[in-house]
Amino acid sequence: MKKITINDLMKWKQEGRKFASVTAYDASFAQLFEQQEVPVLLVGDSLGMVLQGKPDTLPVSVEDIAYHTRCVRAGSPNSLLMADMPFMSYSTPEQACESAAELMRSGANMVKLEGGSWLAETITKLTERAVPVCAHLGLTPQSVNIFGGYKVQGRDSDHAEQMVKDAILLKNAGAQIILLECVPASLAERITKAVEVPVIGIGAGNATDGQILVMHDMFGISANYMPRFSKNYLAETGDMRTAVTKYREDVEAGVFPGQEHTFE
Ligand code: KIV
Ligand code: NA
Repeated sequence: MKKITINDLMKWKQEGRKFASVTAYDASFAQLFEQQEVPVLLVGDSLGMVLQGKPDTLPVSVEDIAYHTRCVRAGSPNSLLMADMPFMSYSTPEQACESAAELMRSGANMVKLEGGSWLAETITKLTERAVPVCAHLGLTPQSVNIFGGYKVQGRDSDHAEQMVKDAILLKNAGAQIILLECVPASLAERITKAVEVPVIGIGAGNATDGQILVMHDMFGISANYMPRFSKNYLAETGDMRTAVTKYREDVEAGVFPGQEHTFE
């Protein structure tokens, strides 16, 4: 696979070409994903749950993400590698710059932050200082204690309008990717059309430019439970390489996610 950059993703969006991405936490899987030509990888703070066995993502540290980012970069030199900024590592723009520096030095190409309009100033500061940003909206798992659980977001029309506004605001602040988690498919479609930058979805229907899955969900091996929007590609294919390729091809063909993986 050739080196993937944000320019490739922008071009694919303009061409209407869908792309797959997956989380990765170590060199061996990162290499396998690169060999199966998955263009975008994420070192997600989901590692708190799938690697550390914690009930949520809040205990994850910048050092945890930095360590796994170094591992993934070692296995996948050419993917566009995003790294999650953990809970409370970006509560001020200054702190965000320090945390992001650590992740970029570890090999990330972009950092991902959870939140709405309050992040605009932070996103501008990061991008001005050469740190590309992905803004994660919708079900933002670091806010589980505010939401009172993992629930689909943007179902009522006020909340939906707010999310469209936030996506545009954060894109204007400098965000180069928007990621939407667990939102109704029609809302994700609106946001995908409203912003010029690529939109990646998870539990957000199949109208987004890209899709992402937690790798443990794609293989059906998550320690806790299987979210309704995920699919166990290992069960269907019988081996990991074929599972990854099938997932990528299903995303590119617009076949995954299907109705059964989608909220309305
Ligand atoms: O941490 C993670 O794995 C994520 C994805 C689910 C988008 O943020
Ligand atoms: Na995350």
